[in-house]
Amino acid sequence: MMENRKISGFPEGFLWGASTSAFQVEGAYAEDGKGLSVADTASLKHSDVYADTKVAADFYHHYREDIVLMAELGLKSYRFSINWTRIYPNGDDEQPNEAGLRFYDKVLDELEKYGIEPIVTLYHFDMPQHLVDAYGGWADRRCIRDFVKYARTCFERYGNRVRYWLTINEQNLMVRKDKLLDIREEDPQKKEQIRHQMNHHMFLAGAEVIKLCHRMCPGAKIGPTFAYLPSYPATCKPEDVLAAMDSDNLYNYYLTDIHVYGKYPQYYRNYLEEHGWFPQFADGDEEILAGAKPDFLGFNYYLTYAAEYCPEDVENADYLSILNLVVPGHFRYVKNPYLKATEYGWQIDPVGFRKSLMELYQRYQLPVMITENGMGTHDVLSEDGKIHDDYRINYLKSHIEEMRKAVCDGVEVLSYNVWAFLDLVSSSDGFSKRYGLVYIDRTEHDLKQLARIPKDSFYFYQKVIAQGSADGL
Ligand code: BG6
Repeated sequence: MMENRKISGFPEGFLWGASTSAFQVEGAYAEDGKGLSVADTASLKHSDVYADTKVAADFYHHYREDIVLMAELGLKSYRFSINWTRIYPNGDDEQPNEAGLRFYDKVLDELEKYGIEPIVTLYHFDMPQHLVDAYGGWADRRCIRDFVKYARTCFERYGNRVRYWLTINEQNLMVRKDKLLDIREEDPQKKEQIRHQMNHHMFLAGAEVIKLCHRMCPGAKIGPTFAYLPSYPATCKPEDVLAAMDSDNLYNYYLTDIHVYGKYPQYYRNYLEEHGWFPQFADGDEEILAGAKPDFLGFNYYLTYAAEYCPEDVENADYLSILNLVVPGHFRYVKNPYLKATEYGWQIDPVGFRKSLMELYQRYQLPVMITENGMGTHDVLSEDGKIHDDYRINYLKSHIEEMRKAVCDGVEVLSYNVWAFLDLVSSSDGFSKRYGLVYIDRTEHDLKQLARIPKDSFYFYQKVIAQGSADGL
């Protein structure tokens, strides 16, 4: 494997961070005027099995002590999201909810106290439920107006103290998961048409918000963040190599191509048109897409896939992937025999991380920001009252080391944010699938005292931040 001999590593001012999202940590799901989001309603449907968003990690009431822990860890950045429904409980309210705005003022005050850079996501899976009930959410263009209004309020209120903004978290994943957008249509063809119309509206909304941010907060940087799920060819058979390329395009690059180049790439148009899914464009949509340019690309990285050619006439396309996307005539997924997987089957691939960083940077020549990277497991509180999560330390160490190599090879990385700072409600598997550097002492249904206990990985990452690399740790 090609190694870069220049060991210098991370630049001065590199933002070593950690990440969370509002609905997964805050709790207080109906407090101080907050409205219900689709993330709340989806989680409440499974309250009997999994922890829901009602309390989560109760960050809403513990943010002060949690930020003290962030300072102890030495965090340079904290990536979190604003809960859209704290600011506009219904999504289309005339006035914003002052109590909701005040909560994030207080969070920002605390971060400022300890010199932690906020990286703020505007929308992380939690659109107001009312907007879906009123007009179908992103299926309707009015949603663009309502999202832009919400973003404007955030820029007005926090624009003088937030330097890094993220528009939409994982639009490419969200659009493939019915529950994240509350897609109720059952007819498969209509459902796909709605899905791609929603995607189009999110692209427009993202572009409008980037332009707005550039106008209102000239000193700030803004970009989207997406789920980067790259594929290797399962073999060197040319059809498999093409399958991996198709998968990369239809999972990842169609999204970043639209963001960076401001138009639908031809391969994506063809794919949508072949299936009768190309969205309706209104007058001026091309200009909106072309008129916005992100300052950086954020991405979340957990795993890679291996793709092979999938025959057109396959009977049961095998859905081995998180995005539930397999395209007969193009690709499907197989297990990669060279990689180990987590207990949840997520294939661990630090070298793939390096490759992803290189590919993204070479394709767009834009700085990148890692907004999530981490490992979800059933952590156990040991008898000594600690959490010995060596597996997470290994995961983080190997990824940080591969990121360093990419940085040495010239990739401009703005920030690396571990998912997650705290244990939280996983977007698919409740509270038992733990990602945090800090353990939250609760089970799916027993809240106990919600004590905060730093894991071994917390102390490992503390050393990484202090010395600016994982070398020798
Ligand atoms: C990303 C999301 O998809 O991955 C997070 O941005 C999520 O919200 C994380 O928690 C891990 O996924 P999961 O399903 O294990 O929680």
